[in-house]
Amino acid sequence: MIRVKDVTKVYENDGTVTEALSGVTFNVDRGEFVAIVGPSGSGKSTLMHILGALDIPTSGEYILNDSVVQNLSDDRLAEIRNNEIGFIFQSYNLLPRMSALKNVILPMMYAGIGKAERTKRAMEVLKELDLEDKINNAPNQLSGGQRQRVAIARALTMNPSILLADEPTGNLPTLQSDEIISLFEKLNKSGRTVLIITHNDEIAARAQRVITLVDGKIVKDERKRK
Ligand SMILES: Nc1ncnc2c1ncn2[C@@H]1O[C@H](COP(=O)(O)OP(=O)(O)OP(=O)(O)O)[C@@H](O)[C@H]1O
Ligand SMILES: [Mg+2]
Repeated sequence: MIRVKDVTKVYENDGTVTEALSGVTFNVDRGEFVAIVGPSGSGKSTLMHILGALDIPTSGEYILNDSVVQNLSDDRLAEIRNNEIGFIFQSYNLLPRMSALKNVILPMMYAGIGKAERTKRAMEVLKELDLEDKINNAPNQLSGGQRQRVAIARALTMNPSILLADEPTGNLPTLQSDEIISLFEKLNKSGRTVLIITHNDEIAARAQRVITLVDGKIVKDERKRK
């Protein structure tokens, strides 16, 4: 479903040129659980932005479900970001003044889903993620693990086939972090393709495949037999 062919990404800021990705090639099949690891600055987030159609490669090709992403119209790109891909970030990116429920509902409002339907769906995912007694809490009234679960609930509402997470356990203590890892495993088992950028050895150990980036290049791509 994901094909990355010789992708490079070059940033230019005030005459300083940074090659964040240099000739990255790999494929991901539907249903895989992939951990992306590597030192700080190795290009992990840059790669994730490209995979999530938030950014385009400087050269090379990114093909998602048989479409070359850089050739798609802005409308089609927005549609893919909304329907196909769920994003989860280290810092949750929740809106601070809104309740858990409102945070989860918001992307569905943007997608034009009716009020009754979006509330119903939000309640379903929040319940599935064990948050039904926290729906009225604002983010600062939740633990880190609960915040991240709200963020995951938000990512799930449009039923994306791909989940992309950038250090989702980076701000969490071990126990809450384990809870989030188990949740990703469960979501993967229910058929979603999961790619997680991580410094967490536990995630890397539980993923079926670990891709290691160094200096914008894949230096290792290991699949485990399960
Ligand atoms: N918008 C930008 N403009 C210029 N340079 C950038 C930009 N974004 C990233 N870079 C550079 O590209 C390289 C890769 O950055 P990236 O954020 O992908 O690394 P990373 O592997 O996610 O690191 P970390 O583990 O610290 O999050 C770094 O050298 C970074 O400074
Ligand atoms: Mg990063």
